[in-house]
Amino acid sequence: MKITPQEGKFGVVIEGFDAPTASAADIEALRAAVYVNKIAVLKNQELDPRQFVALGERLGTVEPYYEPGYHHPEVKEVFVSSNVKENGKQVGVPKTGKFWHSDYQFMPRPFDITLIYPQVVPSKNRGTYFINLATAYEALSEELKLAVKETTATHSVRRYFKIRPTDVYRPISEIIDEVDAKTPPVTSPTTVTHPVTGETLLYISEGFTLSVQDADGIARPDLLRALLEATGQLDQTFQHDNIHLQTFDKGDMLVWDNRSMIHRALHTATPEPAVSYRVTVYDDGNH
Ligand SMILES: [Fe+2]
Repeated sequence: MKITPQEGKFGVVIEGFDAPTASAADIEALRAAVYVNKIAVLKNQELDPRQFVALGERLGTVEPYYEPGYHHPEVKEVFVSSNVKENGKQVGVPKTGKFWHSDYQFMPRPFDITLIYPQVVPSKNRGTYFINLATAYEALSEELKLAVKETTATHSVRRYFKIRPTDVYRPISEIIDEVDAKTPPVTSPTTVTHPVTGETLLYISEGFTLSVQDADGIARPDLLRALLEATGQLDQTFQHDNIHLQTFDKGDMLVWDNRSMIHRALHTATPEPAVSYRVTVYDDGNH
């Protein structure tokens, strides 16, 4: 197993990692790379959906997505993002994640580690944008670092919840009420400490963060906007210093530290077929 820094702003490439036979030391090296370097690209993976889940289980507890429409038909722990119909049927959900977010940020407990395993890889315009929220916090002005102290942030899936096939002909108000009941907004400190690296993370995203409040609970839309702007999340050109474009080839698997990263899918107006499998993990303090 060989770990080398990759091109781009952060992350490593891992060659010679064989998931089914990986030793405990290999898994720990992968885990450390994920926490410290934020993203690891495992080259030349050839896993079926069950083997993919088994790799996730080596890193902690695999958590299936709460909405069954995203599940792989045979292996519910695998989340399917796909714009390809199989035998005339939609499998998984198309156009997922085209907004800044971390996975399950709108839930009381976001995922610790995300694994993405592209299955059908477009020939061009493929990739995912990432922002490391530890370096994004460090790069804030002293004024913003001070302003964010003792504030809280409220996150919700409301703005990006995808209407399901079963929602057709339902009143929109009923769907909104259901979303609010099932996934009520969650509030947490705007900055949190990474349990492994000790870094300070600025835990906000353009997609899921509805508001930032000061210590008295007064909403600060000006502060939220300033933070989104400073971290690069409002940059529609994706040229901001904080933004890393992660590309991939067939056989690559991306494993990232979902605690300290937000990401955004790169979708184009004229998409080619693309299918990706995802497994999400709670590391159970196994770090
Ligand atoms: Fe995501």
